Amino acid sequence: MPTVRQLLQFKANGKQIVALTAWDFAIAQILDAAGVDLILVGDSLAMVTLGYENTLPLTLDEIIHHAKAVKRGVKNALIVVDLPFLSYQTSPEVAIESAGRILKETGAQAVKLEGGYPRMIETITRLVEAGIPVMGHIGLTPQSVHQLGYRQQGQTEIDRERLILAAVELERAGVFSIVLEHIPADLAKSISEKLSIPTIGIGAGVDCDGQVLVTADLLGLTLRQPPFAKAYVDLRAIITQAVQDYSADVKSVGS
Ligand code: KIV
Repeated sequence: MPTVRQLLQFKANGKQIVALTAWDFAIAQILDAAGVDLILVGDSLAMVTLGYENTLPLTLDEIIHHAKAVKRGVKNALIVVDLPFLSYQTSPEVAIESAGRILKETGAQAVKLEGGYPRMIETITRLVEAGIPVMGHIGLTPQSVHQLGYRQQGQTEIDRERLILAAVELERAGVFSIVLEHIPADLAKSISEKLSIPTIGIGAGVDCDGQVLVTADLLGLTLRQPPFAKAYVDLRAIITQAVQDYSADVKSVGS
């Protein structure tokens, strides 16, 4: 099982980090057996698994429930769990309580939180001081959907500077890795070159230190696929066919 310290070695050795999201035991078992390095119990589960409109309604209890199931399916991968909206933004103390619950109750090794500089720096510092490994997440941050929407970030010079500063300050505050979501590829490349910790990209080009996808997007299970997410299979069609075949078998008896 890679520790967060070993993850840092990936970058030092020029080895890409393969990360995917999981939300239950079966998916976690499959990803882990397939050799995924990092499994994220992302708050995207709010939409892909629980049917919420966005990630905001997800509660700490809900993500803990799912993270426990994921943990039971994982033997090797590093497990990181998202801190849900308003489980960490109000104060560092609230963040420590929430992250502490995640580590204690799920057995996951780290938490991820959204936000940059200066907003999240004190919270990250306090979490790291408390012995809680933290992954950052900048660029498109879905918990700020009502401020930013889902559009690409880092399009203006000011915004690029803001994101570079955020990445540098997050590293200084002690995060072990940063997710870069939906930013221009050349910006993600510059940020990745500036940092000694690994960047994990999603919709941020190939020049990050690893890549993450929402597994439901990769499998073709979601109806609203982000423009940067590639479906590697159309499971929705395969499942529909299987259900129709089953249905036909059942109905054929006695007809
Ligand atoms: O919640 C999630 O799935 C995420 C990924 C998009 C990185 O944060």
